[in-house]
Amino acid sequence: MAKIVIANFKMNKTESETKDYLISFLSKFEDYKAELILALPYTSLSLAKFMLEGRAVAISAQNISEDDEKGATGEISGRMLAGSGASYVIVGHSERRTKFKENNKVINQKIKNGLKNGLSIILCVGESLADRNTMKTLATLKVQIEEALKGLYENELENIIIAYEPVWAIGSGKTPSPKDVELAVKSIRKVIEEDFSPKASEQIRVVYGGSINPKNAQKFASISGINGILVGSASLDPNIFMQIINACV
Ligand code: 13P
Repeated sequence: MAKIVIANFKMNKTESETKDYLISFLSKFEDYKAELILALPYTSLSLAKFMLEGRAVAISAQNISEDDEKGATGEISGRMLAGSGASYVIVGHSERRTKFKENNKVINQKIKNGLKNGLSIILCVGESLADRNTMKTLATLKVQIEEALKGLYENELENIIIAYEPVWAIGSGKTPSPKDVELAVKSIRKVIEEDFSPKASEQIRVVYGGSINPKNAQKFASISGINGILVGSASLDPNIFMQIINACV
């Protein structure tokens, strides 16, 4: 199965910087045997839709309102995201959980709202350093997944990618061992098996994210049970991101 490689630009790049990035990216673009997804700032979505027309690269947003359009100044709805070219949206990133106090209940609403509007979801989960140090990694993952996916139908899991991102590995240059990731993925799939079915557990796509670079990308992408990777800062340079993609295909 083709590996999934996701870039998360976070709050980086103006529209014209994204344009320069995509020009460089597309100049070296090949028909990769990977599923590529670029998670861009809102202000770059329409431009990317235009520039990536006909290319096998999906566009993702990085956040969505939990409600449909109404009095919610500054928010963005699923319909708006889809209309601007997004087919995915990231939900539950640790930066939003921490800085914007998004809890599992809000994350669950955002997932439902995204699905309702035809978007696929990249659901981020992961333990903090304190969780890890107190052996609570697997318990944390279980709660995050169960609460985020509460009330979903099994067939909706086809449109969900779970991204395992240990909070302490994001932007730190530190990574868990492949064994740790394998264990975490096993426990993620076990939760899906218990709450949905063995088939759903086998089919759900799980990626790893946190301090991925060209040197370690292949190692993480090839861990048993892992379907791909989610890349933050190393995706911001098109040449480096290309090296990461090439390492995974
Ligand atoms: P880094 O790759 O910069 O550690 O970020 C990971 C991340 O948060 C992707 O969503």
